[in-house]
Amino acid sequence: MTDIQSNPSLLTPEEELENIEIELLLEGIFRVYGYDFRDYAFSSLRRRIWHRIHALHLGSVSGLQEKVLHDPAQMKALIGSLSISVTEMFRDPLLFQLFRREAVPYLKSLPQIRIWHAGCSTGEEVLSMAILLHEEGLLDRARIYATDMNEDSLDQARKGIIPLRKMRDYTRNYLAAGGSGEFSEYYSVKSEYAVFQPELLNHAVFAQHNLVTDQSFNEFHVIFCRNVLIYFNKDLQDQVHRLIYDSLSLKGFLALGNRESINFTHHADSYQPMSPSERLYRKIR
Ligand SMILES: C[S@@+](CC[C@H](N)C(=O)[O-])C[C@H]1O[C@@H](n2cnc3c(N)ncnc32)[C@H](O)[C@@H]1O
Repeated sequence: MTDIQSNPSLLTPEEELENIEIELLLEGIFRVYGYDFRDYAFSSLRRRIWHRIHALHLGSVSGLQEKVLHDPAQMKALIGSLSISVTEMFRDPLLFQLFRREAVPYLKSLPQIRIWHAGCSTGEEVLSMAILLHEEGLLDRARIYATDMNEDSLDQARKGIIPLRKMRDYTRNYLAAGGSGEFSEYYSVKSEYAVFQPELLNHAVFAQHNLVTDQSFNEFHVIFCRNVLIYFNKDLQDQVHRLIYDSLSLKGFLALGNRESINFTHHADSYQPMSPSERLYRKIR
């Protein structure tokens, strides 16, 4: 069930009706398309649903349900709204700096390295990792699995092309993350875009994977699952943490977003935090 947390007795009849409509919409989506949003955090889900309702000039959740359940193109558009694809290169640079310091020495001891970016969005995090691995002499022995539920984001990620206007911020992030090269050497400029060196993504595999409904598909030395769990309710976070735990090798590293934490999950004791401020953890049991 969705975490419609508000005390039902405090809801107005309209709000109660809206909650029922949202539950029905999510149930319908699950049964028709297999996407399971039923345990996403309710308030942001509700906001996103209304965003689509307004975009289509509709008046109710039921109106959206009618469209979405009968038209896969409308479902695709709704996924676009629900998936919140905001991302950056070297987002939270200090986490990448810490990763270089704490995780890279361990990765250097491995003959092959498997890394999973779960919820990779349009691929900025993957390019960042590829650059970091290249600078540490590790890219050739790495395999990067980059997954997301949103196919459109993955299509974009595979291209390795980013609007040029973002390069100023990304250069700053890169330097703050401990980048040791010249950031502009990693891309060429084609009109309004930065086209990243294709070799950076030679070791990356992009594939659709849904953290809610799909299983673990490999064992990884590193998992980045950042700014994804924040959209899930507590039960779903625990469920996905189980999947992450099962997919991470012992001594492997887990990176979360800076508003996410392993604390208060069922797996808190299985990880050692690498710093009090950055969300980098090591699996210790
Ligand atoms: C805010 S982006 C995070 C991107 C990147 N990890 C970062 O931190 O910059 C969240 C991503 O999670 C994806 N996502 C949401 N629910 C998902 C699910 N159930 N399975 C896989 N990906 C999901 C969305 O499609 C979106 O691309």
